Amino acid sequence: MESFEYTAHHPRVVFGAGTLSRLPAEIARAGGSRPLLLSRRGPVAGVDAVFDGVAMHTPVEVTERALEVVRERGADCLVALGGGSSTGLGKALVARTGLPLIAVPTTYAGSEMTPILGETDGGVKTTRRDPALLPATVIYDVELTRTLPAGLSVTSGLNAMAHAVEALYSPQANPAIDSFALDAIGRLARALPRIADRPDDLDARADALTGAWLAGICLGTVGMGLHHKLCHVLGGSFGLPHSETHAVVLPHVMAYNAPTAMARIAAALGVSDAPAGVFDLAARLGAPTSLAELGLPETALRTAAVAATETPYPNPRAVTADGVERLLSDAWHGHRPATAAGDLSRLTAQVVASFAGAPDQRLAALLGDLVTRLHGFVADNDLTEAEWTAAIGFLTETGQLCSPTRQEFVLLSDTLGISSAVDLLSNSRSPDTTPSAVLGPFYVEGPPVKEHGADLAEGLPGTPLRADVRVTDVDGRPVAGATVDVWQSNQDGYYDVQLPDLEGPVLRARLRTDGDGRLWFRSILPSEYPIPDDGPVGRMLRATGRHPYRAPHLHFMISAPGHRRLVTQLFVAGGPYLDSDAVFGVKDDLIVDFPSDEDGTRRVAFTFRLGPDSAGD
Ligand code: BEZ
Ligand code: FE
Repeated sequence: MESFEYTAHHPRVVFGAGTLSRLPAEIARAGGSRPLLLSRRGPVAGVDAVFDGVAMHTPVEVTERALEVVRERGADCLVALGGGSSTGLGKALVARTGLPLIAVPTTYAGSEMTPILGETDGGVKTTRRDPALLPATVIYDVELTRTLPAGLSVTSGLNAMAHAVEALYSPQANPAIDSFALDAIGRLARALPRIADRPDDLDARADALTGAWLAGICLGTVGMGLHHKLCHVLGGSFGLPHSETHAVVLPHVMAYNAPTAMARIAAALGVSDAPAGVFDLAARLGAPTSLAELGLPETALRTAAVAATETPYPNPRAVTADGVERLLSDAWHGHRPATAAGDLSRLTAQVVASFAGAPDQRLAALLGDLVTRLHGFVADNDLTEAEWTAAIGFLTETGQLCSPTRQEFVLLSDTLGISSAVDLLSNSRSPDTTPSAVLGPFYVEGPPVKEHGADLAEGLPGTPLRADVRVTDVDGRPVAGATVDVWQSNQDGYYDVQLPDLEGPVLRARLRTDGDGRLWFRSILPSEYPIPDDGPVGRMLRATGRHPYRAPHLHFMISAPGHRRLVTQLFVAGGPYLDSDAVFGVKDDLIVDFPSDEDGTRRVAFTFRLGPDSAGD
């Protein structure tokens, strides 16, 4: 069970195409009448006062100049239109004036959703976090992003993806932010290739902007890890460009942190290996893929690595200077990240290929698929060595318990529903024949032959039962001379083979149908019973809160020349455990009324319909 704390401070959002037209109404809503626009673009409808000196990294001297304009104009509301720099200036002015801010972002940076302000003063960076810095309203106008150049769209989109990726392994992660993050990753991964193809594709733009918004919420709500620390170091100390650096570094940090969160990210991306998937996406979209091409000298790698380990951000894998230097070296050279997942798919392919020479192609196919699924199971669940050891121990014990009279492996298959699955797919596909059901471990070859009317219980205590059986083909024609083996539990839920003190077989018989396909016998009402639960299977049931009981039933095995052998069970309607049979053997068509006679004898009458010999083979 996870535990978490989550406080939501998300600004009001107005999203759509052409939503910039809503700016005057949003200014009024924020209580403003003399807005000042912070933008490198010209004035927009409803705001003529413009400060266009916006600069990267929010330098304090720029903020102070803008502050003078705020005062000169008597501005009572701020509108930041543009990328992260405009939003940054807007927040810096909010911090100094308390004026309401309306942000109109035109990139995917996401800072409009964060209560964080980073400023530079004489080259020194300071950061503060305060929910009061958040915009009153964010207007996302998809139309405004249409002209964002394809290259910048891709790198800015990957910057947004980085917020979502790091949110998933943040110490503050929680289910709400996880779902925002995974949705953002999926949207960005789908939208960016379409934008690279056709930058004015409005639907793709809407998807990317939605992804950027959700990723911005992630960035603003939970702490970031190694990736953001590295990007700050590379941007702050080495002057590398912001969104391009994010695009280059992200796949390598993901590889460093794998496998944490990577299976979920891979699923959201629709790839088998998340770090390689992000690398391939960036490369395919023409984003830079190496720090070398961003102008970082190779000699800077060690310094950057050491700087990243000083006051590191929380990160799922320990941040060491050597580890980060290797990561940076891969990023500098532009290597495609090799990860455990990538290695695993090579390993899986190798094992599957090893079966290719098998003379029995079906065997090769079955083993190949089994290995692929088992490797996938190991990867998807991050199976630990301790879990693997426990599983091997469990299977070993299961095997060791098997003997001529105890088949724990079949019991395991039964309790996992595998026996019923095989039965369902191989025996019960025709609606015209009686459904089959699992054989179970209590069938004994060559049961005693009995005449019609015989008492299978041979005087054992229990509720008397009379069974009238008919065997027909699928057209309802009687099957004469069919061999019908019957076996069942006693009133305490035991089969004869479980009671060593009993002499000879009891509650089991072989009968033959007469010329009309009929037979009848007497017995006692079968009872519910627990499957053997003193071994590993029983432990599994207890560990998962399951009970070991089977619903009361009679077993039948019916064979006749020219007909398909039927192995099945009849369940007593109204009996216990019909809905939770421990081996998943109950089928609706096999639940039968066992009404009471006046003398208390229970009666069951049933017609079994056999398929022709070749059916379903
Ligand atoms: C049975 O019905 O006899 C049975 C079937 C599967 C597992 C254990 C018992
Ligand atoms: Fe049984």
